[in-house]
Amino acid sequence: MRCENCPLTDCAVVPGYGDDPADIVIVGEAPGNTEVKEGRPFVGPAGRLLDRLLEEAGLSGYRIYKTNSILCRPWPHRAPKPGEVKACNPRLMEEIRSKNPRIIIGMGAISLRALTGKNGITKHRGLVYEGEPPIICTYHPAAVLRGREDWYHDILQDLRMARDLLEGKKPDTSFDWEIVTARYQLPDLENAVVAVDVESNSQGCLLCVGVGHTDPETGRPKVYITRWPADQTVVGWLEATLTNNTVVAHNIKFDAQVLWAHGISCGIDEDTMLMHYGLVNKVGRNGLKDMAATYLYVGDYDAEGAKHIGRLEELDFETVAHYNAQDVAYTLLLYRQMV
Ligand code: URA
Repeated sequence: MRCENCPLTDCAVVPGYGDDPADIVIVGEAPGNTEVKEGRPFVGPAGRLLDRLLEEAGLSGYRIYKTNSILCRPWPHRAPKPGEVKACNPRLMEEIRSKNPRIIIGMGAISLRALTGKNGITKHRGLVYEGEPPIICTYHPAAVLRGREDWYHDILQDLRMARDLLEGKKPDTSFDWEIVTARYQLPDLENAVVAVDVESNSQGCLLCVGVGHTDPETGRPKVYITRWPADQTVVGWLEATLTNNTVVAHNIKFDAQVLWAHGISCGIDEDTMLMHYGLVNKVGRNGLKDMAATYLYVGDYDAEGAKHIGRLEELDFETVAHYNAQDVAYTLLLYRQMV
C-alpha cells in the first residue's frame, strides 16, 4: 500500500478488524510485531490485556471493531510521528464512519491526538468528548505492561464510563442557577447541605460567591450567584446560610479563607477533595474538574475558562457566573455520590 502524503512507505500494513457495523470502535497506536505476523490489530500482549479489560468492564458482549491511528508498522520499532498520524487520519475517519459506532475509544496518547487533536493523555483521559459519536480516550494497555500497573484501574474506570454511556446511564447533571442581587430572591435554608464556591481575579479580588442546595421540588441543584461587592441583605443571607447549614466545598479551606477575609463567617464541614483523597488514596485527579469528568461524565466543562485561569476578569460576568454555578452544582452532586 502506498498512501499519498505519507512518509511511511514499504512498511507492513495491518488493516482494522472486527464487527461491521460496530457499537464500539477502538483506536490504538500502530500495529506491533505480533499484529504484523497475524495481520490483525491488537492480537499481541497489549491486545490480550485489552480484551481482559473489555471483559472486566462489561464491554465484551458489544460489537467491537479495532483499528489503529496508523496502519503501518514503523520500522525499526518507534512511536508514529505526527506527520504519519496526520497522513493516515482521513483513512481513520472514513474507517470509523463506515462502522457507524455508538462510541469511539482511543487507547494512548497517539490515538488521543488522532481522534481529538489534543495532546496529553494524563490530562485528557476519561473525559467524554461529546460528538456523534462521543469519544473517550484512556491509557494504552501496553503502558501497563511496561510498568504502569497503577493505570490498569484507570483504564478500567474509563472503559466502564464507556459502558455506562452505551447503556444510557449518564448521571443527571442538570441544575438551575441564577444571579441574585437582593435577599428576597434567596430561600431560607437551615440544616440543609449547601455547597459553596468563590471566584476571584488575578489580584485575588473576589468576583462572585456561589451557594447551592438541592431544590426539594426538582431534586436538582439550585445555585445562587452573588456578584461582589454584594448588597448588605445578601451578605447577611450568606452569613446565616454558611453557618446554619452543613457547608461543603471542593478544597474548602481556600473558599472559607476568602470568605473570612471578606468578613463572612463560613463553616468548614465537608470537603469533596479530601473525601475523594480518602476514598481512592491516590495523589492526582482530585481536582474538581477531574472528578466531575470522572464521576459525572461532564467532559472538560472548564476548557475555555482554564485559558483564563487566574485572570477571570478577562471574561464577561455571565460567563464567570456560569462557571461558578457549575463548580457549585458539581460539588454538590459529587458530595451526594460520595456520602
Ligand atoms: N498496540 C496498538 O496500538 N495497536 C495494536 O494493534 C497492537 C498494539
